[in-house]
Amino acid sequence: MSDNKKIAQEIKQLTELLEEYNYQYYVQDAPSVPDAEYDRIFKQLQQLESTYPTLLLANSPTQKVGGVALSKFEQVTHQLPMLSLDNVFDADSLDDFMQRAIDKSPLTETAFCIEPKLDGLAASIIYQDGVLVQAATRGDGVTGENVTENVKTIANLPLKLRGENIPPLLEVRGEVFMLKAGFNKLNEGLIKAGEKAFVNPRNAAAGSLRQLDSKVAASRPLAFYCYAVGIFEGELANSQFQRIEQLKAWGLPVSSEVKRVVGEAACHEYYENISKKRASLAYEIDGVVYKVDDINLQQQMGFVARAPRWSTAYKFPAEEAVTTVENVEFQVGRTGAITPVAKLKPVFVGGVTVSNATLHNKDEIERLGILIGDVVVVRRAGDVIPQVARVVLEQRNDDVTRIIHFPETCPVCNSDVERIEGEAVTRCTGGLYCEAQRKQAIKHFASRKALDIDGLGDKLVDLLVDHKMIKDPSQLFSLTVEQLSSLPRMGNTSAKKLVNSLQLSKKTTLARFLYSLGIREVGEATAANLANHYKTLPAIIDAGIESLKTVSDVGDIVAKHLYYFFRQDHNLMVVDELISVGVHWPDIEEVAQSELLLADKTFVITGSFEAISRNDIKAALQALGAKVAGSVSKKTNTLVAGSAAGSKLSKATELGIEILDENGVLKLLGKSE
Ligand code: IVH
Repeated sequence: MSDNKKIAQEIKQLTELLEEYNYQYYVQDAPSVPDAEYDRIFKQLQQLESTYPTLLLANSPTQKVGGVALSKFEQVTHQLPMLSLDNVFDADSLDDFMQRAIDKSPLTETAFCIEPKLDGLAASIIYQDGVLVQAATRGDGVTGENVTENVKTIANLPLKLRGENIPPLLEVRGEVFMLKAGFNKLNEGLIKAGEKAFVNPRNAAAGSLRQLDSKVAASRPLAFYCYAVGIFEGELANSQFQRIEQLKAWGLPVSSEVKRVVGEAACHEYYENISKKRASLAYEIDGVVYKVDDINLQQQMGFVARAPRWSTAYKFPAEEAVTTVENVEFQVGRTGAITPVAKLKPVFVGGVTVSNATLHNKDEIERLGILIGDVVVVRRAGDVIPQVARVVLEQRNDDVTRIIHFPETCPVCNSDVERIEGEAVTRCTGGLYCEAQRKQAIKHFASRKALDIDGLGDKLVDLLVDHKMIKDPSQLFSLTVEQLSSLPRMGNTSAKKLVNSLQLSKKTTLARFLYSLGIREVGEATAANLANHYKTLPAIIDAGIESLKTVSDVGDIVAKHLYYFFRQDHNLMVVDELISVGVHWPDIEEVAQSELLLADKTFVITGSFEAISRNDIKAALQALGAKVAGSVSKKTNTLVAGSAAGSKLSKATELGIEILDENGVLKLLGKSE
């Protein structure tokens, strides 16, 4: 074989190997090699290609870096117009849609293909003989812009299809979007460089796709999922779901959330489930798309105006709305943190009526440039506390707006406030002298993850403190039925129940007790790590800063908070008081550590998970005796890697550390079949 032929063959092999790795990573979600290995082969191929430019293959993954800069985008006419979707906003209207399909259907079972409604922008991509030849935006549905060079740089999109029976012509349609993580990173970079950040991932995707310089587009973390076939030559299944599966088999990326279901109940269930999962998905979705699965039935149902009758989008309630800031109040939290809260003209957003939004701290007020009386965009995503996203400056009325004055003393107890250098929060210095802090400390003590006192809600704690019946958590345990039933809206039965649950809550665990004290930055996971490490309360109280820092998850700041907490007489008195009224826990030494499945094993968690949250994985591992650390080192036994895992995964692979994916960890925790 001639040298040139040999090199051509090598280039082909490397190109195909990288394509295979891309397919495993982006389509199958199951990478078989670490990132470092991919990078190594990538560089090897790049080097060969630069020495022998004539041998470069069009489908080489090295071509995803962009290069061509245009002066303007050419127009592209879509052979089949790109339609939009009809919307519904409630379950009844979805029922109406399904019923219309079922009425039209000659089939005994009418199936629906259900897909997440990706929040990006539509694109059409044409493959000829399996090679990506053209990509266009939707434009007005008839004519769009030729964005081929930019689309070619999208990491999860193959330049060449793989597998069997590749059609001579195939137009796929789908959504160009940005992963949430990539979007955040991009914005951080833009802000650092003094440039303007994007408002949301959708805008960022749109802005990136319309870059004339494809090198800039290549640097943006764009992604693509297919959801339809446009024009094609050859045979395709008569089912939307099967078509999506076929696209996947040809190496095209599709959302793993696409399902085929029969029956209205299952259609509603999908919406409920994905609403709950929405915040933990790696990308933004703004609803659910229902499509009649049978293509013949689709054709029979046809179109109305510019939308198909066989499909509808069930949109989530809008996450953003516009309203007015009527006032700003300052709340004092458990640790004295003073939080400005915008009092809003009530507005319906994210499915609920919102009348408060947090302004976080002084810096945030400055960043937003917000004034009382301003018109603002309020955002409520999932379970998250409503936020003020931005001020609508165009609608500011100088006659009614007022400056927000941050308080110089605590609005509750009048103590001085302080702001430690380098920290964003301003705090009341009153400690437990401050009634607000006292109330929050007791609420925290009683909360579910702490002593879990049934029947002691926030309102009741406020009442007890307001009536001067308790000053600290230990005094809860001497409350009598008579005392309690003297409170407004407190019957004899509820009072008895509460006294009873107070007695029950005295039996707890060391980790819960530690957490219940409300030491700054000591969450339930840190508390569990400390309990596992020191085994007894006196050992924790006596521990020095250096010793504390050896506990996983405990850094310098947390160690200092712990150390100084236990050096304050009034804190030690509360602890003593609690123990003397009978709060107790089993000795950890009694629980034979070696019987715990994961005793002495160190885990690190990275990436994002779908069926379980990171916190839940952490808590479950710790319950089995494991330590959970923040970074990978030689001491790590196992890395739990979700999707989009990055440097931790490469490091663990390098060190030959065991790696568990989401299914693996669910199995280990006994949470899957
Ligand atoms: S199908 C004829 N499926 O929503 C049907 N569209 O509001 C054409 N979109 O322009 C669209 N996810 O940009 C379809 N799974 C999905 C989708 C989806 C997001 C977007 C698409 C379309 C818009 C219509």
